Amino acid sequence: MSLKAVVEGVGGYLPDRVVTNDELAARVDTSDEWITERTGIRQRHVAAEGQRTSDLATEAGRRAMDHAGVGPDDIDLVIIATATPDLTFPATAAITQAKLGITAGAAFDIQAVCTGFVYALSIAEKFLVSGQHKRALVIGAETFSRILDWEDRGTCVLFGDGAGAFVVSAMDEDEANGRGILSSYLRCDGRLTELLYVDGGVSATGTIGHLRMQGNKVFKEAVNKISEAMEGAAAAAGIDPTTVDWFVPHQANQRIINGVAKKLDLRDDQVISTIAMHGNTSAASIPLAFNEAVKDGKFKRGDLIMLEGMGGGLTWGAALLRY
Ligand code: UT7
Repeated sequence: MSLKAVVEGVGGYLPDRVVTNDELAARVDTSDEWITERTGIRQRHVAAEGQRTSDLATEAGRRAMDHAGVGPDDIDLVIIATATPDLTFPATAAITQAKLGITAGAAFDIQAVCTGFVYALSIAEKFLVSGQHKRALVIGAETFSRILDWEDRGTCVLFGDGAGAFVVSAMDEDEANGRGILSSYLRCDGRLTELLYVDGGVSATGTIGHLRMQGNKVFKEAVNKISEAMEGAAAAAGIDPTTVDWFVPHQANQRIINGVAKKLDLRDDQVISTIAMHGNTSAASIPLAFNEAVKDGKFKRGDLIMLEGMGGGLTWGAALLRY
């Protein structure tokens, strides 16, 4: 009997503090009009002083476990996708595991920036269908506010903090009844590092550094790479990408989301967009958007859902699942 990796529960957490475009316009040479027109972003959440990535991850994880109806003893794998860990080590997943009272199995972080959640979900699926682990907590969690150059209007207006989580369980095919992660498609081209990176780090500078991005060059890569990933994930599952029920994209820019949706013939009402309220929360953006759609009652069990991400590396990828 083969196993499937089924999403049983989802959760999200956003810090209380909301920063509006007008507030940013008071600090750097920008305007609500420019940010809204060029990106679709109206506001973003920012973590409180002392609030760490693991705090955001813990809350999102707890909510996903509640939604799935499982407790800490039911989880034996914690994977956190983050580019903004609490500490250099141990992994934010280890810290979060302890905060959630989980003691069984493995916990580790993965780093693929804005594609991180798609990478993490794909890794979890492999661990679960192999039978090595039974139930995973997969979290995307970020405090990008800590790596932004608040003087750089080209980047500081784009990002926000938050966390989103999935509980993913190994199920026999019969029990899964068609549900589960059907395929994933992951890519990286490290030659494009200079388009989006942080100019500091442990072995390079001994500092945290700031996010640097050649936004228009990343933009030019985005639609093609994301479309390629979605077509790749659909082909791997033997599915026509135009037949998906829902599309949950990484929330970087509404114009990118619209461009991809158009290329794949998806209607606006199939696309989950939270960018106006969340900004770009990097690895957290997909599970946060997914969670909003679940809370809004949009997704029904059995719906076919495409996720995609693209970010620093450059990395890009997509995953297809039946919810
Ligand atoms: O999540 C990881 C992946 N990241 C992405 O997918 C981001 C992809 N890139 C983008 O979303 C867009 O490129 C941005 C939103 C970052 C920028 O939009 P753009 O339409 O590509 O603008 P641009 O960078 O070509 O800049 C156009 C103008 C420039 O001024 P000049 O040189 O034409 O005078 C910029 O200096 O807009 C200026 N500008 C701003 N003006 C007001 C850049 N940032 C701002 C700002 N407010 N915040």
